[in-house]
Amino acid sequence: MSQSRDHWSSNAGLVLAATGSAIGLGNLWKFPFITWENNGGAFVLVYLVCIAAVGLPIMMAELLIGRRSQKSAVGALKEAMSARWPGLGKLGALVGFWGVLAGFILLSYYTVIAGWSLYYFVKTVGWTFGGYPVGMSAGDLFGEQVSNAGLQLMLSLGFSLGTIAVVYFGVSRGIERIARIFLPILFGILLLMLVSALGMGGAGEALSYIFRPNFAELTRESVLEALGHSFFTLSLGMGAMITYGSYISRKHSVVKASGAIVALDTLIALVATVIMFSVIFSVAGMRDEVRDSTVGMLFISLPELFYSEVPFGVVLGPLFYVLVALAALTSTISLLEVVSAYLIDQRGIARKKATIGAGAAIFVFTIFAALSFTGTGLLSTMEIFEGKLGWFSTADHFVSNWMLPTGGFFITLAAGWFMTSKSTRDELMDGSEPRWFHYGAWRFFIRWVAPIAVAAIIVFVIRGTDFS
Ligand code: PFF
Repeated sequence: MSQSRDHWSSNAGLVLAATGSAIGLGNLWKFPFITWENNGGAFVLVYLVCIAAVGLPIMMAELLIGRRSQKSAVGALKEAMSARWPGLGKLGALVGFWGVLAGFILLSYYTVIAGWSLYYFVKTVGWTFGGYPVGMSAGDLFGEQVSNAGLQLMLSLGFSLGTIAVVYFGVSRGIERIARIFLPILFGILLLMLVSALGMGGAGEALSYIFRPNFAELTRESVLEALGHSFFTLSLGMGAMITYGSYISRKHSVVKASGAIVALDTLIALVATVIMFSVIFSVAGMRDEVRDSTVGMLFISLPELFYSEVPFGVVLGPLFYVLVALAALTSTISLLEVVSAYLIDQRGIARKKATIGAGAAIFVFTIFAALSFTGTGLLSTMEIFEGKLGWFSTADHFVSNWMLPTGGFFITLAAGWFMTSKSTRDELMDGSEPRWFHYGAWRFFIRWVAPIAVAAIIVFVIRGTDFS
């Protein structure tokens, strides 16, 4: 086991790295789409409540479990669960391992979509200089690229290598350094896009769609979807934040960092949604085109609109796909770190070897995910969960619906019930906590509100509700 554990060099380093993990395809791809599907307004409000009442307390719980033990998911949960009852250590290790497995699977398919951003970056640069091809259908282009096996493998391989290269250099020299450079760029690009989008004719309608609640449109499913998404978007339920928490030194506050990470992630999800809807509402007939496709907004509707509708679209088009790629990369590195840290801490393997080994093993499954869109063969047609065709959808369904909520449930129990209140209080009230924080309130939310809410997700999933 390593003697001197690598740590974040400052509180800002931790916040940027963890925010980088949280902000990803979930913010740019999933959130706008589910907001669309659930008719905006009321759904957004419910989502904000879920983030504050469930996401924020669990974020604090994960970071504190990591910081206290200075170990990654398996070791940390083993310690946390056995604090009162030593017999529960084994269960803790199992929950940690479940998280590592979730990271493994999630990374294997997340990389494929991340790879698409590279393709669209290259394409949009070409269109910026050569003009958007007259009469080309963006839908056909999308269909051609996803079903081109060789292209898919190359894009995913490129993205995997980028991820491995960062994690290879460790916490402060790799992950933190990249987050410090990329996140400010990401914020800058989003700001430019927001200014451009707010100048479009559809901006007013977009804002009222997103922020004006109409509770008549809210269903039980939308509430559960908002809750399920708050796990995915904040990178909770699988030990990523426990692992990042284990690199926090005693000097840095878990509470402040959690507040900043959760606030930034939520802000970026809302900004991305405002941008996309402003563009979509500005174009007649666009609503119908977007309707049933999860990937439609990001990779079919937008590319075309950059060159026909969006002010400064010729510049913003390529920049947008840089944004998607950067957001995805800071998430994929956190996923690989969960698996690598397990090999380093629990198996005593050196970082470089662990990173390359884990990255290569995960890539084998990325190949399955990359070949899920070819339309033929088992990888495209398998159906384990009803309506989820192909390996990609199967893996996404399993992770989002089953793995993250079950992992999250045990994490709330570990922090709320199995650790002593003295130890959680020591971690959260270390003198650096902000004034708005109230330990008693956190404890109430982590013992009661969060586990009951997550248990509700699990019950509905067992009864067949789908969140992915
Ligand atoms: N939070 C990421 C997103 O919103 O895209 C997804 C994710 C990354 C989940 C890392 C879990 C994780 F460990």
